[in-house]
Amino acid sequence: RPQLLSVDQFSRESVEALFRVADIMQPIARRQKVSRVLEGAVLGNLFFEASTRTRVSFGAAFCRLGGSVCDTTGFTFSSMAKGESIYDTSRVMSGYVDALVVRHPEQGSVAEFARATNIPVINGGDGAGEHPSQALLDLYTIQREFSRLGRIVDGAHVAFVGDLKYGRTVHSLVKLLSLYRGLKFTLIAPAGLELPAHLADRISRNGHVVVQTASLAEGLAGADVVYATRIQKERFEPKEQEQFEGYTPDFQIHQALIDAHCSPRTLVMHPLPRDSRPGANDLSTDLNHDPRLAIFRQTDNGIPVRMALFAVLLGVEDQVPRSMRDAGW
Ligand code: CP
Repeated sequence: RPQLLSVDQFSRESVEALFRVADIMQPIARRQKVSRVLEGAVLGNLFFEASTRTRVSFGAAFCRLGGSVCDTTGFTFSSMAKGESIYDTSRVMSGYVDALVVRHPEQGSVAEFARATNIPVINGGDGAGEHPSQALLDLYTIQREFSRLGRIVDGAHVAFVGDLKYGRTVHSLVKLLSLYRGLKFTLIAPAGLELPAHLADRISRNGHVVVQTASLAEGLAGADVVYATRIQKERFEPKEQEQFEGYTPDFQIHQALIDAHCSPRTLVMHPLPRDSRPGANDLSTDLNHDPRLAIFRQTDNGIPVRMALFAVLLGVEDQVPRSMRDAGW
């Protein structure tokens, strides 16, 4: 069954094939062309956790290919609030829609949705597990930005900063980047929020250099990509709640830090949302006008990458080029 549950499904070749479909989708994503290749198809967007980008961009991607979207957000608006199981919910939805995107707070739960149905299911984030479509759009962004600079992903130095324990986008992205050759991964995390050991071991086993540090100055030096993440206090266990009670580790990426330790060609990325509340210490807004900040190019790339995922999972990717017409508006 066609589904996207984990980036483990991908080889380097299949990632690059998906990105070629995403490139074909770019004129539709930019509203220069239109396509109705998914006319009549309905997407079920089941989000049991908050989301702006993933929910809306999957919905917009489906609509821009001519399909329609049914949304449900939060447990309150689903009959799971009345005790309905994942199995029953998924079976019922598969009689109504042609594909599902699911976000759920429990790791492994989206796979449970997928086991109960024979329609395509996409993991829109399962707890602290994975967020495969985010990692795909992140890698697509890195490739496009590097290509503009005449560089390739092989041999790059990528510094991951912040909550690497609960950051599911990081979990998926380190696996995807591991498909390339000769990378240096610098993992900069507060004590207790380091990347899970099985993922760090996997990167090393794939022949990459892994450096773990709690020092921003040391870790950022020479980085080609700085990938910052939010501290995800909502996922903390009780002992972590106690450890971080009343304070947020200061792993903030800001202009002076980037100017001091990075080159004019370094990319600064973040999956978003960034926490802009006082004391959150997330990616600073003082970088907003720095061309190295790629965060909104990442969000824009979410549309063609998610269109490509739908086209491939629903088997219409070959029809897309001849379905495209000028937008005319
Ligand atoms: N990056 C991401 O998953 O954002 P949302 O939580 O807004 O979907």
